[in-house]
Amino acid sequence: MDDPSLARALVDAVISDFPDHEPGTRPIHTIGIGVEGYFEASDVAPSYCIAEHFAGQRVPASVRFSNGSGSPEQHDGWNDVRGMATRFHLKDGAATDLIAMTLGEFFVPTVKDFFEFTKAAQQTPVAKESPWRKILDMLRLKIPLNDPYPGQKASGDAGTLVYANKHKFAQLSVFQAGSIGAPVSYVRAAYHAVHTFIVTGSDGVRRPVRFSWKPVAGVRTTDPTQPPVDSYLQEELRERLKQWPARFLLMMQIGETGDALDDPTQPWPAHRIRVIMGTLTLTKVTEDQQAACERISFNPWRLVSGIEPSDDPILHARKGAYEESRQRRGGTACPFNRS
Ligand code: HEM
Repeated sequence: MDDPSLARALVDAVISDFPDHEPGTRPIHTIGIGVEGYFEASDVAPSYCIAEHFAGQRVPASVRFSNGSGSPEQHDGWNDVRGMATRFHLKDGAATDLIAMTLGEFFVPTVKDFFEFTKAAQQTPVAKESPWRKILDMLRLKIPLNDPYPGQKASGDAGTLVYANKHKFAQLSVFQAGSIGAPVSYVRAAYHAVHTFIVTGSDGVRRPVRFSWKPVAGVRTTDPTQPPVDSYLQEELRERLKQWPARFLLMMQIGETGDALDDPTQPWPAHRIRVIMGTLTLTKVTEDQQAACERISFNPWRLVSGIEPSDDPILHARKGAYEESRQRRGGTACPFNRS
């Protein structure tokens, strides 16, 4: 169901969490960098999913890495979720997107909860908590607040912690988001697409799955005891890719009876079968950053035959919200958008 007024309200809600949002830019994941490379499916991939990019041939891919914040100020070294939006370029100019972030789960299970969460996440002035306050919080099993960074005046952390204390479903993601740190490189973080999708295998069997990217170079964050550096992630990627390519494995976790199929706040048991669906090789930072980063617009509903959305209401809400955001910021429309 496409509801333009809901899409507008969702984008407004996201913007309300970042008072310094600049019109013409993304309201969240604002700072980013576009890179390019190719994806090669694994030998087993086609038996699990008949989608074109899993058929075995090399498929060109574009990726936009981003910081999660909607602020135009770049604070690479701050604790923040990171994004990895991937476009697989298919035959005849068609495309499919996979949008992922460094949290394993999302904050809320429904659209109503999303509006309440964004209200709770609005920024309030930050101050360093006393050690006694931190100990008291820990004794009461409350997550202590992070100390503000030098120059940081406001944050949404206090509100999201209050929200998580009242809503059990938000606790896993709010805790992760509060302690995730900063990666040493955009290609040294694991990214999760969070929602359940339904894939069809070559035998016609439909399976509920969740996708994640695993960095071949391993996961590594910066030393939190050192002062944070505001700008290093883009330069690191430029220098790294000049020397050698960066690789990610695309993992697909297969759901079983009883797993949450329409709730992105619920993890699946860790022992669920994981299949390697292929390898993404990133070869260079794209020269035209206007096209590959600023103007490109991803949508989790840009899917191809063989991959269907689940009934997850958050996934459904994102379809219109991303399109609304694209239009507001003058992003490039995808002529092959089949959503
Ligand atoms: C109701 C829930 C959500 C809403 C309303 C929302 C909204 C948005 C909007 C408006 C944008 C900017 C789109 C653009 O201008 O192109 C965006 C970007 C993004 N979102 Fe979400 N989002 C939601 C949930 C999620 C979830 C569950 C994930 C986890 C995978 C996610 C990951 C991202 C990423 C990585 C980007 C940056 C994409 C890029 O590089 O272009 N979002 N989101």
